[in-house]
Amino acid sequence: MRPSRRLAFCSKIKGAPRALAFMNISVSSAAPLEFATPCLLVPIWSDAELSGVAAALDAQHEGLIADIIASDGFKAKPGETRTLYAPGQRAPRVILFGLGKEAKFSASTLRKAVAKAARAALGLKKTEIAVALPTLPQMDAQLAAQTAAEALILGLARFTEFLSKDEDKREIESVTLLVDDEAAAQKGVQRAQILAQANLRCRALVNAPSNFKSPEFLAQTARDIAAEKGLKVTVWDEQKIRDEKMGALYAVGMGSDHPPRFIVLEYAPPGTENDAPVALVGKGITFDTGGYSIKPAASMEDMKDDMAGAAIVLGALSALGDLGVKRRVLGIVASAENMIAGNAQRPGDIVTARDGTTIEVLNTDAEGRLVLADALVWASEQKPAAIVDFATLTGAIGIALGQEGAGLFSNDDELSQQLSASGDETGELVWRFPLWEGYDDYMKGTVSDLKNIGPARRAGSIAAAVFLRHFVKDDIAWAHLDVAAVSLVSSEKHLTQRGATGFGVRLILEYLGE
Ligand code: BES
Ligand code: MN
Ligand code: ZN
Repeated sequence: MRPSRRLAFCSKIKGAPRALAFMNISVSSAAPLEFATPCLLVPIWSDAELSGVAAALDAQHEGLIADIIASDGFKAKPGETRTLYAPGQRAPRVILFGLGKEAKFSASTLRKAVAKAARAALGLKKTEIAVALPTLPQMDAQLAAQTAAEALILGLARFTEFLSKDEDKREIESVTLLVDDEAAAQKGVQRAQILAQANLRCRALVNAPSNFKSPEFLAQTARDIAAEKGLKVTVWDEQKIRDEKMGALYAVGMGSDHPPRFIVLEYAPPGTENDAPVALVGKGITFDTGGYSIKPAASMEDMKDDMAGAAIVLGALSALGDLGVKRRVLGIVASAENMIAGNAQRPGDIVTARDGTTIEVLNTDAEGRLVLADALVWASEQKPAAIVDFATLTGAIGIALGQEGAGLFSNDDELSQQLSASGDETGELVWRFPLWEGYDDYMKGTVSDLKNIGPARRAGSIAAAVFLRHFVKDDIAWAHLDVAAVSLVSSEKHLTQRGATGFGVRLILEYLGE
């Protein structure tokens, strides 16, 4: 077997930036205007009369806030902030943050508004802040605190591991949420810490450049998570992958000096050992050059993120125990590096997946569906209650949806509905695409059972999903989330400033928590 080349090493690339995930967030039922803090964040509706803390503040400052709204162009839209300087007061800096119209308010509004306000506080170089969190008619106290805490942790996280000089290096170390119901808020904050930690773990893996990660690196990450959280872990190396007839995963890995891995993490809380598991499957291509069907330079730039599906699965598995999830869950990762070499696969090669399906590899850049094929066959063999796969599968999904949400493809209405409801809850939106009968023959082969690409420029994301569906037994509820366009962003989006978003982690944890 060829030797595995050594990777670059950076001690910071292990798991998540802990300090941020454990940003000290406490709760207090102290009256906001009597609470001493360097910087107080105060919410304000755009349409209603001034109410709550904003109204009290207005009274304290003799109509100042009403005046700002009347004459300074502050509309209190979600994401809009305004700083007040109040020397000598308990909070010498106050940041008003808009919540928009009361009727349009949702958890996403609060998430966005709090993240923006926290960034504004950071802009003032504050390391300690307090957030006045009103009792909201639309949302219970626990969820409101959870949402705000998630926004604080995730909205402030930045990918800085490789900046030798970080001009913007400031951190908000301590936040007090000022609430009516301390006990409920405390529960919400605790949940947020766990969810954010899982999201940041995913982000850290995706942000790591590909000279720092390989299939074995993902395997080691899985072992670390297993040891830390008491999960069962199994890793198959290249030889075992071949022996186990995963010919499609094996073929994708052939051209790399870093051999492929098949990784399974198992979470089974007491009493669920014999239950049908929920199987989460992730695409783990640690770099995608396209292989001999090589990508143009611009399309290759972000291909370190082609293991985001795997990172979602690993991130989610790391949080199940802490969240007290009561279901048995398998986290399955098919990992390879799609490279070019004398022994890489060629266009036109025919490979055989674990279930015996033969596939003509007409395009080596359609490699994600190949590695997933074997993983889905293996997942189906476990007789799961449901399979949900996550993959940066097609560029076409970004053409269809932009970066606003992920594509959802499924053979099961109920599972689809639940996943999309979970995404609505967490602000990770998904949109279901059809799998009409007419697509059924898109991936049919001529000299093999299947080919790995469909008709040129026709429904690329759906064609990929139709290919995946072939490897899931008919009676198993299955959903595929194409996260190619949302897993990494170059500017602020999805509570992320730049880099990996962790999109999907909170969604699937919400789904599993139901
Ligand atoms: N990893 C890519 C998909 C991708 C594109 C992820 C953009 C993130 C951002 C995938 O392996 C791929 O190359 N898909 C091809 C499929 C085609 C050859 C049928 C694509 O989308 O062009
Ligand atoms: Mn590809
Ligand atoms: Zn890929």
